[in-house]
Amino acid sequence: MFLTTLSKASLALIAASLVLLLTQGVESHSYADCIDWRFKDPKNHSWSDKNGACFGFARRFPLKAKPFAKLDSDDPNRHYQQDQKNPLGSPSCSDGIHGEEPGADETLGHPVTAAYSGKDKRGRKTGQMTQSTPGGQLCIRWPAKNHAVPDETNRPVTIALSGVNPTKDPNQRDFLKNVIVNLNYKNCTDKGKDTDIWPCGGCFNLPKTLKKGVYAMQWRWQLNSDEHYTSCADINVK
Ligand SMILES: *[C@@H]1O[C@H](CO)[C@@H](O)[C@H](O)[C@H]1NC(C)=O
Ligand SMILES: *[C@@H]1O[C@H](CO)[C@@H](O)[C@H](O)[C@H]1NC(C)=O
Repeated sequence: MFLTTLSKASLALIAASLVLLLTQGVESHSYADCIDWRFKDPKNHSWSDKNGACFGFARRFPLKAKPFAKLDSDDPNRHYQQDQKNPLGSPSCSDGIHGEEPGADETLGHPVTAAYSGKDKRGRKTGQMTQSTPGGQLCIRWPAKNHAVPDETNRPVTIALSGVNPTKDPNQRDFLKNVIVNLNYKNCTDKGKDTDIWPCGGCFNLPKTLKKGVYAMQWRWQLNSDEHYTSCADINVK
């Protein structure tokens, strides 16, 4: 009798821990999936793979590692969460070591092109660097990761730039001094049943005053009051 009660209790405990483990193991945090998304049909913009293509990526972005929206569970995970207690003191771009949830290496390449059109540490092909012009339009895409549904607070994505031809990434405070636009996180299309994989994004124009050269760009999304996720890319302005 005692044993049965005990084993029932431990079974319940094991089941509860399993559920906890499983839910914690399922990452669902966003990241910039494309920096230069181009719509196929100018009359019907959609962020889904079948309605456009990507011409510029974040640093060391593994092109064919996972289907759309699933790189947050890549190894290492693509989403990078800054320290909850000190987001402004965290690296602005993931170094793969620091942060609440370190991500993949998204630090500035030396030379800058080293982070593009090559291979990542696991030998996977990486995406090309973004090219644009002063005043040029960019459309950036990200996966909703279940956070674009109506009962979630809609906090913006901020897009910030470095100065021209940086030799290191601006720290978080410096990026925040040069935010060029706030984008609507919930601007999604193709909203099927699976709210994890809704494709979302925002379009904006680069400042017309940019000089020719390379700029570091940060995508930063605030989830809860203390959660900040970033992705980093470079833009060659010609
Ligand atoms: C726009 O594209 C979506 C996704 O392919 C499609 O479902 C929809 O019917 C299209 N709408 C129009 C007006 O063409
Ligand atoms: C929202 O997404 C659409 C594509 O569905 C895009 O055309 C539009 O520019 C986006 N809006 C903003 C404000 O970024």
